[in-house]
Amino acid sequence: METTGAKFVIEGGHRLTGEITVSGSKNASLPILCAALLSSEKSIITNVPDIADIHTLLQIFADLNVKADFKNNTVTIDPLVLKHTNVSDRLICKMRASILLLGPLLARLHEANIPFPGGCVLGKRSVAAHTHAFKSLGVEVVDDKQKLHLKVKKLAGATIILPEVSVTGTENALMLAAITPGKTQIRLAAAEPHVQDLCRFLNKMGAKIKGIGTNFLEIEGVKKLHGAKHKVTGDYLEAGTFAIAAIVTGGDVKINGIDTSQLDSFFEKLDETGANYVLEKNAIIVKPAKNIGPVESLRTAVYPSFATDLQAPFAVLLTRAGGTSKIFETLFEGRLQYLFELEKMGAKVQVLNPHQAIITGTSKLKAVPIASLDLRAGAAMVLAALCAEGTTEISNISYIDRGYENFDEKLRSLGASIKRA
Ligand code: EPU
Repeated sequence: METTGAKFVIEGGHRLTGEITVSGSKNASLPILCAALLSSEKSIITNVPDIADIHTLLQIFADLNVKADFKNNTVTIDPLVLKHTNVSDRLICKMRASILLLGPLLARLHEANIPFPGGCVLGKRSVAAHTHAFKSLGVEVVDDKQKLHLKVKKLAGATIILPEVSVTGTENALMLAAITPGKTQIRLAAAEPHVQDLCRFLNKMGAKIKGIGTNFLEIEGVKKLHGAKHKVTGDYLEAGTFAIAAIVTGGDVKINGIDTSQLDSFFEKLDETGANYVLEKNAIIVKPAKNIGPVESLRTAVYPSFATDLQAPFAVLLTRAGGTSKIFETLFEGRLQYLFELEKMGAKVQVLNPHQAIITGTSKLKAVPIASLDLRAGAAMVLAALCAEGTTEISNISYIDRGYENFDEKLRSLGASIKRA
């Protein structure tokens, strides 16, 4: 699904109404599909979103000679044969999550050589957490600035204190530790819902992981993992994005398919704005609000704090809020650039430095040609266009297709006027 050059054309001002079900989580599916390679037996993963990043990963699987079939959001993987012969550097560089292949390749083939992975340009995005975890478990790491060369010396359980609470770093550490003899502790582990979902899948494969959902994971290494069946958790980031779409259009929308307890910090911030919504265990029901107010500080941090991936979508809501809100993006130093696009649309924003900005509402957003700068910023541009006056053209929508399944179709089903050009 290559959509480079494609645009969204969105006519603003349509109230969203109706019901949607979010897809499976991208950030859970990617590590879970990689983890399936830890075994030589077949695994079946359901609720996998049909998005560009998953197709990229499956192309890499084909390069590794791994058989994988993707139909109706179900991936059946037969990783009996796994050959690290001709993986395309171009594919690896297309997406940062390809770094998640390292754990399984080291476990199965005892070595891996990959170029530095790409992905959304959000900041420095170090690989230190990954290499530190691998070294602790007995892997030799050589970084020649072009590629990472990794070779297993002798695997042994260890205490790993991650240099930062890295999501994919924790996931790689978990995957290799699962088959590493002895006990491993991962301290300062990431606890995001997608990390938890990976842990649950690994345990179904026969891994022994304790402490799921905390920052302290304990793994008792096992000799072998077997194939397993798993349904990927619903995408809480997609749910948050749709909730904002409903609020900024004054809509009335039910969003199904998630565990709402994964969005506590998001709801806490929504409460501060005065948004009107009701929660069920697996659904959010958004109702029109009388008034939307500002938040004192939207501060992103690792889970369970407010997710960086919802920062840009939430900022669109803040342009609708009467008053001044502060944004503090603590994780990435490249994730406020989209504010300049919102400014072009008439939002009053002040970018103080790469991590902090001020938004003053209420601004009437107006349609001007804007660009999608990364996956989440792209989704934010769509939200802005939905509530802007006039018809907005958004370029670079390939970013959005990397992570949101049928975004435009789902929005159309709620009454949005959005088409691809
Ligand atoms: N960071 C800190 N302090 C921390 C932890 C991280 O400053 O305690 C910084 C890192 O230096 C880095 C950034 O935060 O610059 C992200 O770190 P992390 O290693 O956790 O990111 P990642 O594993 O590469 C995953 C998601 C991203 C998401 C981040 C943060 C996947 C495949 N990717 O990336 O998702 O933004 O965690 O939650 O799970 C997206 O879906 O749009 C996306 C970019």
